[in-house]
Amino acid sequence: MFGFLFFIIFINKNNNRPLIYIMQNEAFFEKQSVLTYQKTKIYEEYIIEYLPRLLMTYGSCLIADLFCGPGKNGDHNGSPLILLNRLNYILKNPKFNSKENLKVHVLFNDEDLGNIENLKKEISAFSFNRDIIKIHIRNQKYEDLLPDLVRRPEKSSIPKFFFLDPFTYSNVKMVDLQNLMLLSHSEVLLFLPVFFTYRFTSAKFKKEHKTRIFIEEFTQKGMADYNDIHEFMTDIKSRLLTEIKINRMNPVPYVRYVLLDGGGSKNSLFLITGHPSGMLCMNKVAFKNTDDGKCFKVKESSQTSLFSNHENTRFHSLFRKKLIKYLESEEVVTNSAAIDFTIREGFRPMHLKEVIKELYVLKKVRIFVENNKTVSDSRKWGISESPKKETIIKWTQDEKNKN
Ligand SMILES: C[S@@+](CC[C@H](N)C(=O)[O-])C[C@H]1O[C@@H](n2cnc3c(N)ncnc32)[C@H](O)[C@@H]1O
Repeated sequence: MFGFLFFIIFINKNNNRPLIYIMQNEAFFEKQSVLTYQKTKIYEEYIIEYLPRLLMTYGSCLIADLFCGPGKNGDHNGSPLILLNRLNYILKNPKFNSKENLKVHVLFNDEDLGNIENLKKEISAFSFNRDIIKIHIRNQKYEDLLPDLVRRPEKSSIPKFFFLDPFTYSNVKMVDLQNLMLLSHSEVLLFLPVFFTYRFTSAKFKKEHKTRIFIEEFTQKGMADYNDIHEFMTDIKSRLLTEIKINRMNPVPYVRYVLLDGGGSKNSLFLITGHPSGMLCMNKVAFKNTDDGKCFKVKESSQTSLFSNHENTRFHSLFRKKLIKYLESEEVVTNSAAIDFTIREGFRPMHLKEVIKELYVLKKVRIFVENNKTVSDSRKWGISESPKKETIIKWTQDEKNKN
């Protein structure tokens, strides 16, 4: 009898979901938590930065929000309405008036029928340009929809942006990311609720435990002690870089994380992209919202910053060290290669310039243009977001210090 009652309490008749899951799900959409606020802010700002560039270059794209939710989190817009709002705003820009064949395909999917019905209601009340924005709505399990999306990738060459925002870390597999990234011009913004897994990285889980499966699939070190959450995230980044190939010509994608820090709990967003300009946009968004380019903390109004100096400088000094090692070992690099290195490290060309200026004063580097002419004016070094000319950065440690 007790067992039967237990079953009634924890299993929902309609979709066989544990009631506890449904309660969590409903609570999620009733009001917005700090972590959800941070996540949707990064998503929104990335769209604002990147979408206009993408549309100006390609004229069309697909944005697929595969765990889209009902459209609203309490009074706040969820990812679908954030996207439509921002698209409306972006498309108002007169520079798009003369753009031919402008099309934005938007795919919203959620396995929960209630969420999809609510989303449809929200969308029908929303005014937007239906000639340009084509909305496709699906009510499927992501696992069932994915094979359709990755089938015959050669069919569509338009840029694709996949937003994967599941409740749990076990929904999205490494192989899904590999398949999505093999599509042409593809990128993924993945929300990973990593904090729970991070706390159990050295636990003695059985082989089939889903936390262990996730850790072994998504990290290089596997079940081990990590010094801190950043070491864990960096390890996930290395694994993504090892596992995911874009194409034969340019196999290594750009990958970065932003840690979302809600105090007691922490989560993360990972961007995986083949576009340096996409990565640069996310680097900008990250530096706009964080002091260190990595960790988004909510600041109290009375405080200027919650970051310790140590934390603020840790990533900059790590970048500086890596950059110097790179310049020293390569000896001669072009400005474009150094900029690419910087973007891959999650930084901006302005950060590269700061280090190069410092090295220049110390006479560790010299900058050349064609005909071996040196350039002393830093404004002519071609170190910017869209450099107009090629320059050469040469490591010139003086002979005395060489050994
Ligand atoms: C974190 S919420 C998404 C929130 C949304 N991005 C927003 O900003 O409002 C995750 C959503 O994924 C849906 N979901 C969970 N598992 C799923 C699956 N296997 N396939 C498709 N949707 C799923 C849930 O119903 C829920 O609406």
